[in-house]
Amino acid sequence: MTDAITYERIGDIAVLKAQNPPVNALGVDVRRGLLAGIEQAEADGVKAVLIYGDGRTYFAGADIREFGKTPLEPYLPDLCNRIEASPLIVVSAMHGTALGGGLEIALSSHYRVAVPSARMGLPEVNLGLMPGAGGTQRLPRLTGVEAAIGIITSGRQVDATEALELGVVDKITEGDPREIGLAYVKELLDAGVVRRATGELPLASGVDFDAEYDRVLKKGRGQLSPAVAVRGIQAAVEADSFLAGMKRERELFMELMETDQRQGLIHAFFSERAVSKLPELKGVESRALNAMGVIGGGTMGAGIATAALLANLPVVLIEMTGEATAMARGRIEGNLEGALKRGKISQEKYDHLTGEALVLSTDYAALSDVDLVVEAVFESMDVKRDVFGKLDAHCKPGAVLASNTSYLDVDEIAAATSRPQDVVGLHFFSPAHIMKLLEVVVAKETSPETLATGFALGKLLKKVAVRSGICDGFIGNRIMNAYRRAAEYMVLDGASPYQVDKVVTGFGFPMGPFAMGDLAGLDINWAARKRRAPTRDARERVPMFYEMLCEGGDFGQKTGKGFYIYEEGKRGGVPNPAVAELIAKDQAQQGVTARDFSDEEVLRRYMCAMVNEAAKVVGEGIAQRSLDVDMVMLFGYGFPRFFGGPLKWADIQGLEAVLADIKSYARADDFFWAPAPLLEQLVAEGKSFDDLNKG
Ligand code: 3HC
Ligand code: NAI
Repeated sequence: MTDAITYERIGDIAVLKAQNPPVNALGVDVRRGLLAGIEQAEADGVKAVLIYGDGRTYFAGADIREFGKTPLEPYLPDLCNRIEASPLIVVSAMHGTALGGGLEIALSSHYRVAVPSARMGLPEVNLGLMPGAGGTQRLPRLTGVEAAIGIITSGRQVDATEALELGVVDKITEGDPREIGLAYVKELLDAGVVRRATGELPLASGVDFDAEYDRVLKKGRGQLSPAVAVRGIQAAVEADSFLAGMKRERELFMELMETDQRQGLIHAFFSERAVSKLPELKGVESRALNAMGVIGGGTMGAGIATAALLANLPVVLIEMTGEATAMARGRIEGNLEGALKRGKISQEKYDHLTGEALVLSTDYAALSDVDLVVEAVFESMDVKRDVFGKLDAHCKPGAVLASNTSYLDVDEIAAATSRPQDVVGLHFFSPAHIMKLLEVVVAKETSPETLATGFALGKLLKKVAVRSGICDGFIGNRIMNAYRRAAEYMVLDGASPYQVDKVVTGFGFPMGPFAMGDLAGLDINWAARKRRAPTRDARERVPMFYEMLCEGGDFGQKTGKGFYIYEEGKRGGVPNPAVAELIAKDQAQQGVTARDFSDEEVLRRYMCAMVNEAAKVVGEGIAQRSLDVDMVMLFGYGFPRFFGGPLKWADIQGLEAVLADIKSYARADDFFWAPAPLLEQLVAEGKSFDDLNKG
């Protein structure tokens, strides 16, 4: 036995308890312990074996930290087969989350009991993998092929009730896993049941696997693992024997293990968890968060208020006039109606949230009891300073005063108060009740408690909170401005906006930069460009077709026309022919001779601009770690998760090659393409961006 698995004999039953906190991942010690436990039980002459997990869960899967390293015996599929082959009656009692290799151990057991709150699934595709220890072979034998395809290719978790209906568990009982497991084993022994091996169950299917493969591949927008998993299930149906199916599953699993996508998705998994763990916040208590204020009930204020209400945080929202408060209420109610329609909240909850939980006022005195305020008024320093002066006068001592500004200097905003230590930036993304990203912007005097409270709010609202320093656009918008600029340069030089958008969506983004501009409103970026124009460096190339489009009153979707033309009732837009004329005019005025761009070059320039700016953001300390940048781009800008983020993508490409490309682009424009010093340093030292995450 190992420390990770304890063995205990109770009469005719051997009890194997897993204790590998926090989630009983199936690391090598756990696998060795299970194997030894089964062997010991057989040697001891018991009749049955009970397997369960100590602590918060049954096994939550293979140990992800072992992936990419040399595998150590016993391998998980062999262990599963060994458990299934045991002549004893093997029973698993599940609680918490039985996932991946964990569920595969359960499926290899002969009988399964679960507590009502247990959840189970095969989420390997979310890590760029597929079940690799019999999941694709055994699950369809219990649920049928179609249900197994649904569960495995989505990676979704199934609750105990659905698992019972599908035949994944045999019984649901309230209690702790040890008690319910022992009771169930006794019941089975009393009933004289025989060993029942999932792998020996018959399996037939009329599914067209090629069609399923194509359907799943298309749905994955470039992600391979769900489609490859279909081939594993196909092998369960078509292979000559169960073991031949297992062999095929293993081959496919190992192929996926070698992919870049596996690296990217596992990087995303760990980074998502690491991003909110800041060394500077160790031991720092956040302040109480029982009520929140929101200033401004426009697009963002209404979305932020909705997010807070959905997290059961009562909201006091301040607007300028009675009419504006009514409009703000309308927006919030509209958002909550959406949640009601999607079954996310009940009618009763809706009534409560739009009733007593939401107070709208034009009087700042209504904020006297709130613990945190998020300001989301017009993007103007004068207006924001005025608002913060009022917040200073009306909010209780210790209340956190936050700004949702996209670009303005939070230090300057903080200086409008007598308590800059309580001021922080909380940059939400639109729509704020849906988008997962929250940039927590630290100003010079922001106290650790204030920062901790910003992160606590992020957690409460189920957001991915990322720490950012102050600069124009913080982490995300600053990087976006760089790659959007690269896209505009390519268009000025001869690529079409539609080619760029197509290449970018082909890479895995939900939208390209021009369609995205249309969606966000071209006027917003236009205003920022005008604001920056007076301080622009003389060496900067300035494409003007964007300005020309805006000058004509075309702001994108909101005006029905931008880079695309949008027709009422139709999804998406068609290219706006006027745009080509504006580009040609811009080229003529700037003396640019248009040239063709290959799709490869479009992608490379777009990505290199993103990586170079991201490296500057990390190098300047605006982001503390490269993983912070990666999570911002994943959760706020639609960067495809299977590449892990721009800096993980760059690591996978090889930093030397990325830097070489940047330098080659710099030959024509050494201002925009000036290589990031950090990138040059990493290349010189033979290091990767990921190395910076480990420091
Ligand atoms: N391996 C290694 N570490 C794991 C892990 C795993 N399978 N699952 C979770 N952890 C770690 C987390 O990284 C985290 O570590 P940290 O405290 O150092 O940050 C800690 O366990 C707790 O995890 P969470 O913060 O995520 O805890 P939650 O309670 O929010 O969620 C969970 C628990 C639902 C189990 C979630 O962690 C999860 O989804 N884990 C991944 C499950 C999974 O993908 N399993 C399949 C693995 S692949 C496989 O099994 C291949 C097989 O088919 C051969
Ligand atoms: P908006 O124009 O839709 O809403 C602003 C609201 O603030 C209006 O309803 C206005 O009546 C109200 N307001 C103005 N001055 C006020 C005052 N003194 N007191 C109370 N209410 C006041 O603007 P939007 O888009 O919601 O943006 C708000 C802030 O959020 C800006 O700073 C913007 O940069 C930022 N932001 C915007 C994003 C977006 O996608 N729209 C994304 C992230 C941040």
